[in-house]
Amino acid sequence: MDIKATIAAMTLEEKAGLLSGLDFWHTKPVPRLGVESCMVSDGPHGLRKQDDSADHVGINDAIKAVCFPAGCATAASFDRDVLTQIGQALGDACQHEGVSVVLGPAVNIKRSPLCGRNFEYFSEDPYLAGEAAVSLIEGVQSRNVGTSIKHFALNSQEHRRMSSDSRADERTLREIYLPAFEQAVKRAKPWTVMCSYNLVNGTYACQNHWLLTELLRGEWGFDGYVMSDWGAVDDRIACVAAGLDLEMPASGGENDRRIVQAVREGKLPESLVDLCCERILTINQRFLENRKPETPWDKQAQHQLARRLAAECMVLLKNEGELLPLRREAKVAVIGAFAKQPRYQGGGSSHINSAQVTSAWDVLAAWPGVTYAPGYHIQTDEPEEALLLEAEAAARAAEVAVVFAGLPDLYESEGYDRTHLSMPPAQEALIERVAKANPNTVVVLHNGSPIVMPWLPRVKAVLEAYLGGQAVGGAVVDVLYGEVNPSGRLPESFPLKLSDNPSYPWYGGEKNVVEYREGIFVGYRWYDQKEMPVLFPFGYGLSYTRFAYQNLRLSHTAIRDTDTLTVQVDVTNTGARYGKEVVQLYVADRESTVIRPVRELKGFEKVALAPGETKTVAFTLDSRAFAYWNEALHDWHVETGAFGIQIGRSSRDIALEADVTVTGTTVVPEPVTLNSIFMDLLAVPKYAQAMQPLIDLMQQAFSGHSVDADVETAVSPEMMQAMIAYTPLRSLLSFGNGQVRYDDLVALVDQLNRLP
Ligand code: BGC
Repeated sequence: MDIKATIAAMTLEEKAGLLSGLDFWHTKPVPRLGVESCMVSDGPHGLRKQDDSADHVGINDAIKAVCFPAGCATAASFDRDVLTQIGQALGDACQHEGVSVVLGPAVNIKRSPLCGRNFEYFSEDPYLAGEAAVSLIEGVQSRNVGTSIKHFALNSQEHRRMSSDSRADERTLREIYLPAFEQAVKRAKPWTVMCSYNLVNGTYACQNHWLLTELLRGEWGFDGYVMSDWGAVDDRIACVAAGLDLEMPASGGENDRRIVQAVREGKLPESLVDLCCERILTINQRFLENRKPETPWDKQAQHQLARRLAAECMVLLKNEGELLPLRREAKVAVIGAFAKQPRYQGGGSSHINSAQVTSAWDVLAAWPGVTYAPGYHIQTDEPEEALLLEAEAAARAAEVAVVFAGLPDLYESEGYDRTHLSMPPAQEALIERVAKANPNTVVVLHNGSPIVMPWLPRVKAVLEAYLGGQAVGGAVVDVLYGEVNPSGRLPESFPLKLSDNPSYPWYGGEKNVVEYREGIFVGYRWYDQKEMPVLFPFGYGLSYTRFAYQNLRLSHTAIRDTDTLTVQVDVTNTGARYGKEVVQLYVADRESTVIRPVRELKGFEKVALAPGETKTVAFTLDSRAFAYWNEALHDWHVETGAFGIQIGRSSRDIALEADVTVTGTTVVPEPVTLNSIFMDLLAVPKYAQAMQPLIDLMQQAFSGHSVDADVETAVSPEMMQAMIAYTPLRSLLSFGNGQVRYDDLVALVDQLNRLP
């Protein structure tokens, strides 16, 4: 189809009609011109394809699909390949089902552990979230199916999600909340972007010209179409002008009519309507020309894949006395209703109608010596004594007790935020009672975001299974019994208590105003800066084997910010089991004039090692790894100085480090004014000569103060130096003994500004 010619042949009404959905899930067709309708569907840890009649919150009428681990879990894999494989499986499902775009990945930053949708999101760290997004998008789009990266942007809470105004400063936006979108758009080229419900710094994301046009298209080169989150449109005309192509779902024709009227009244250029049509039709055509309905969708094979991938995501948080892995012959009491009915995905628009679900008990029931006790009712908060007694008895009769616990559906969901980090009292009580009954207690957790663990000191092992998808039960058994050696790492910090979280005072906001006052200090950036103890740090996770790091090499000891730096490190499996290590690279700005986090993740690689085996892991760092966002330049900037290259097991466990000096090649303009202070002026070598007479004058002026002995002790040389350092040029009028004239100062400012 010749898209431009087709648009030229369309009536204004047809064009305006194309800019909103046919129904909840389809774009509109224009049959007389051969324009076909295309379907979009939720995901992205499975396909949620609904019947045409369905509303977007109904779940039962979605077709059966395979539910893979949710975003919280896949990020914990720290394995790009896990995300690519899920993407490919999802792409195949979409081709089989004729779905043009899957609505995901969701990459919003986990500003607070309270966000109800954290289970869908990847991380508190923008680099990790970006890498995960790139891999998932590449996987899906390798099948000629589009993605819709969401929710663009600053949608880090559910509370008042359709009306809250997320307010963040430029640097915080650029360093924390935008990079995951930026990396994905630049590198993986998602076919579409979904803009969020909330306002971004005072303007609805859907009608934010800066966000959708200047930044997304102008700076990042996005060339697909932007769709609204479902029902997010406020002023449809302003949305078209801002760069929102497709309003979802349908507006009953109302907004289409308003677009037509605005064009007729000269309030909206028709060319913008044409542009939206062109973008939508271009993406639709990309799908339609590459349709492969014959693509097989083998749900059994995907279930097996989901089991393998879920195991890659699990994080071993504690393993005292190497209680895990369990011996196959061990007498084990499996306790907790989640063992039979695992919580393996979250509620809301990402909810998959799973083709099948495997619980841990489905696998273990047939094993000799394994018993089961429910311990609690999933929907009941309060402990039930009879269930606790039964669980204790089962625990006492076994060598090892494995308690399955976590958060029930109601505790975290799309649509609302949590208010605390606790598990239901019934589950906490169960763990305490079982741990008393049997010292060898293991806890398996099913939750989409951090919880507090008051019982932690009394259990020997904890396995964080997150929300592991429909095959989670098999995967848990694989890890508990050592079939798979756990290799997940936490993609978020687990604080000791909610109030430690940096967004705590401000999270949720006041009415509709949500100020991101903690700025760039999100997650470990805050905890590390404050040297604050945490329950478990970012990047943390144990293995059944051990790894040693040696021989950190940097390709250079000094580079310019236009060069790249290669970092290599040797990792050896020094234990007795095959296993995978996540090698994390953090960059620490050693001498910065700007306030920066202690360290920031800038690379990670997962490496598989047989016992005794050594592999070299290599990273390449470019200027972005050293840069911060400079608000004066409105750009990334590398400040000249030493940077630490830190190789760690977590943000709190740095194994090796070495320094590189990076020379920045851009200059931040700092024009001299009468209010420039001596300290800043003296830091610029080229000003030295012109400044010398003024320093002499100041020294004289300040020494003139110390006439009697009392003042001499009051004004030490250190104080005098500091006083001069902090003095603005204009103060020479007051302190210069009448020797300085205003015009001389103005001339000096001019002279300094002109120096080459
Ligand atoms: C959610 C989106 C989702 C859409 C369609 C919205 O409520 O925020 O993530 O893709 O509904 O179901």
